[in-house]
Amino acid sequence: MKTSSSLLGELSKHQFLRDYWQKKPLLVRQAVPQFQGLLDPRELIALACTEDIQSRLVIQRNDQWEVHHGPFKPKKFDHLRKHNWTVLVQGVNHHLHSAATLLQLFDFIPHARMDDLMISYAPKGGGVGPHFDSYDVFLLQGLGKRHWQISAQKDYKLVNGAPLKILQNFHMEHDWILESGDMLYLPPHYAHNGIAENDCMTYSIGFRAPTHQELAEQFLVYLQDKICLDGIYSDPDLKIQPHPSEISSDMLRQVEMIIQRIKWNKNDMTHFLGSYLSEPKSNIFFDPPEEPLDHSEFEQAILTDGIQLALKTQMLCHGNIIYMNGMAHAVDKPAYRELRALADVRRLNSRTALSQETLELLYIWYQNGYVFPGPF
Ligand code: SIN
Ligand code: CO
Repeated sequence: MKTSSSLLGELSKHQFLRDYWQKKPLLVRQAVPQFQGLLDPRELIALACTEDIQSRLVIQRNDQWEVHHGPFKPKKFDHLRKHNWTVLVQGVNHHLHSAATLLQLFDFIPHARMDDLMISYAPKGGGVGPHFDSYDVFLLQGLGKRHWQISAQKDYKLVNGAPLKILQNFHMEHDWILESGDMLYLPPHYAHNGIAENDCMTYSIGFRAPTHQELAEQFLVYLQDKICLDGIYSDPDLKIQPHPSEISSDMLRQVEMIIQRIKWNKNDMTHFLGSYLSEPKSNIFFDPPEEPLDHSEFEQAILTDGIQLALKTQMLCHGNIIYMNGMAHAVDKPAYRELRALADVRRLNSRTALSQETLELLYIWYQNGYVFPGPF
């Protein structure tokens, strides 16, 4: 696979971010030259049949759509027709090293924005219908060919009662046939429709964009464990009310003043964001080592083989804090530099001399299954 130099065609990463990212679509022919895909349809179907992996099967019969949710029994795929269905598997980068390596080509976008790699397989005619997504996506063609149609339309009306988001009125403005290695970038809310021309696998590299509502709700959840207000509601000057059932203005005023005492600072904001964005999704489970090395064996193993993040690990950092799978760890400068280097490229090479603080944290994370020694 490789190569980041052709990933955006003639454009530099800087030009792409300035002119296209979140703004307009970009088609790149041979973005990943000779890309044949990372797995075959049979292997993708095996993933769709695996516990803890999110997958969907979308079947189209005339104008009717059906959606089934995995994990599936393998025989589910034995009785499907030869056309007009598609299976989509989320989070493949949590299970395949090669998928995690593919995502590294997109490292010019911060990890905090990265969602996951979804891979779809469809025989001829398969697709999920005309729709729009709420986030940025790079659609990289693996096996076969896909006919992509796109539209900048602002009519987002969806078909009523359909089990998936299908646009009622899709007005195609551009279309292309994508072949293996070609890639189409789409900003959020850009209408698109991809139809398999033949046996076809598409790799969707998606970038998360939390809604303002989601951020606000989650921040309030964070705050509820943080706030600490002393005092008890009091009314030593209580007067007789003509209507005892009425909530008095005095009471309202006092409660308003109590609530206004809820404060947060930049540290709370950072702490919330780092923990929230690195928090594993609910279907993610880590595999701690069955027979863990002891501390000195572990240090020796790092020296010999280096260390890497488990595929499911999300590691972010800011200031002096490392966010590891939803947990915050404040560290000194040398440890911060070492751990940030690990977070950037998801591995540290062997023979890297590490501070004691870093080694202590790495050992705890190793026991949790978040990192493990070994060459990449
Ligand atoms: C697909 O791979 O079939 C769907 C990708 C998308 O439209 O977002
Ligand atoms: Co889409």
